[in-house]
Amino acid sequence: MRIKKIQLKNGYKRFHDLTIDLGENPQRIIALVGPNGCGKSSVLDGMLFLNNAYNMIGNKGSKDHNYHSMLQTPNFDFQNITIHFDEGEFYKIKHIRGQQGTENTMFSFRSPYRYNSNLKVAEARATQEIRLNYYGASSSSDLDDKMEENYRRLNIKFNRFLKDNSSTATYDSAKAKIIGDLNASLKNCLDLEIVSIGDIEDNKGTLFFKKKDHPREFEFNVLSSGEKEIVDILLDLYLRQEDYNNTIFLIDEPELHINTSIQKKLLLEINKLVGANCQIWVATHSIGFLRALQADLKGECQIIQFRHGVSWASSRQSLFPIKKSIANWKDIFETALDDLTGLVSPKQIIYCEGKDKPGINGQEKGFDAKVFNNIYGEKYHDTLFISSGGNTELDQRSDIALAILSKVFSQIEILVLKDRDVSSGKINDENDRQVYLQNNQDHFRIMKRWEIENYLYDKEVLKVYCDKNSLNFNESEYDKFVTNITDQNLKDETGRIKKICGITTSINPEVFKLTLSEYVTEEMEVYKELEKCIFQRE
Ligand SMILES: Nc1ncnc2c1ncn2[C@@H]1O[C@H](COP(=O)(O)OP(=O)(O)O)[C@@H](O)[C@H]1O
Ligand SMILES: [Mg+2]
Repeated sequence: MRIKKIQLKNGYKRFHDLTIDLGENPQRIIALVGPNGCGKSSVLDGMLFLNNAYNMIGNKGSKDHNYHSMLQTPNFDFQNITIHFDEGEFYKIKHIRGQQGTENTMFSFRSPYRYNSNLKVAEARATQEIRLNYYGASSSSDLDDKMEENYRRLNIKFNRFLKDNSSTATYDSAKAKIIGDLNASLKNCLDLEIVSIGDIEDNKGTLFFKKKDHPREFEFNVLSSGEKEIVDILLDLYLRQEDYNNTIFLIDEPELHINTSIQKKLLLEINKLVGANCQIWVATHSIGFLRALQADLKGECQIIQFRHGVSWASSRQSLFPIKKSIANWKDIFETALDDLTGLVSPKQIIYCEGKDKPGINGQEKGFDAKVFNNIYGEKYHDTLFISSGGNTELDQRSDIALAILSKVFSQIEILVLKDRDVSSGKINDENDRQVYLQNNQDHFRIMKRWEIENYLYDKEVLKVYCDKNSLNFNESEYDKFVTNITDQNLKDETGRIKKICGITTSINPEVFKLTLSEYVTEEMEVYKELEKCIFQRE
């Protein structure tokens, strides 16, 4: 069973009139994507509102018109919601399922408030059939406390297996059968495994776990919030497998408390546990989930994106699944998740010289960029230096990069930083540099000194380096050798500098220079001089 189309009318929550239309071939996974408050949960609430008018999901009761109606209309009712399934419209399906006794399993719901910090069941009691869908949240604002009920159900399942197979079953065979599949899912997400389902009569009414390396098993209560969340979600889906095999699963923000890298694994496991005839609706703003949808589940999902700047409350809107193009993904990652992508993407990229490919020993990749990132990475944390080959390559590539990147990442400023050597190998001076700056576009920057080594091999840096490493810096020898720190070729003189620093062992020049870059600090003259060239264009 799959939903094809849903409509929320007459001011349902924040929507004046919203239709989500998945077309003739609705997919298995529907992701509602967008920033906080855009209306993802409201769509799920709309489905529950309609369903709960017939069969209540959860045990939290219904919400009043203030919850559902934007205009706070007192008699606002479920008829403002329409849902079309691939097998027909809502009322028809409800009717057919009523005759089969499966009317309560049309939807399965998890609200984002899945707080199950404790699990200690003191006494056994009768539970109702799981198909009645009577515990947990009834709307997206309710507490979705399912762990205890689900633990009871796991016990019942376990004991029933032992009873049904009393002649052959052992505790271990029951465990392998009942928690084997669940463990397989759990292990794909976490380094964690259920070892026992405890014993209510023995005052151990909880799940017990083990982890690699741990000497003893430990109980549910000591798991981290993210681990509890994963156990909770997977256990619930696992228990529903039999009865909810033709169901719309609604999961609101499955990513809560869970690291990005594990989110993706969780979505893959959710997909495995949910039956083939079901559809999964997830409301999400998680990078991990989107990555899974973008890569592993691409052919099985449709993405509904809620954009900024749409008059949802005052105009009629229809949403269709987005085309899964790079540009759209970029838009989702950048716009819907701007708070997160902003953290990882630079605001400024500075192309500099330096080999862009690894050398023989693989070490000089992006050497100049590494040095600059070391020196200025902290103060200018939104800036990223990238090496792009020698002087002429830098010119060509930076042109291309500027042309393309500035279109793709309109927010990013791109600069080009050159060594002083801009006169095709001929000697030049400060005046030539100023002329170059005057007559080139603003994004070009040029160093005052000949090359990066003229900064790193400055006396100021070497002295601090030697001091911190208990080496004797031979200052008179240095002064004799380095007579012009601005223009002198120092790049090929690492051996000489090494001697002046009193280093007797063999060193790798690239590593040595990178090490020196760590000693360049904000209060140094070299730092300030280079900073002015790069960031102030002086
Ligand atoms: N009954 C209502 N009346 C007016 N606005 C509502 C109503 N219900 C929800 N909203 C608005 O919808 C937004 C929340 O939508 P929600 O679906 O919870 O967002 P999310 O995408 O984060 O799940 C809020 O900005 C809220 O003000
Ligand atoms: Mg929400």
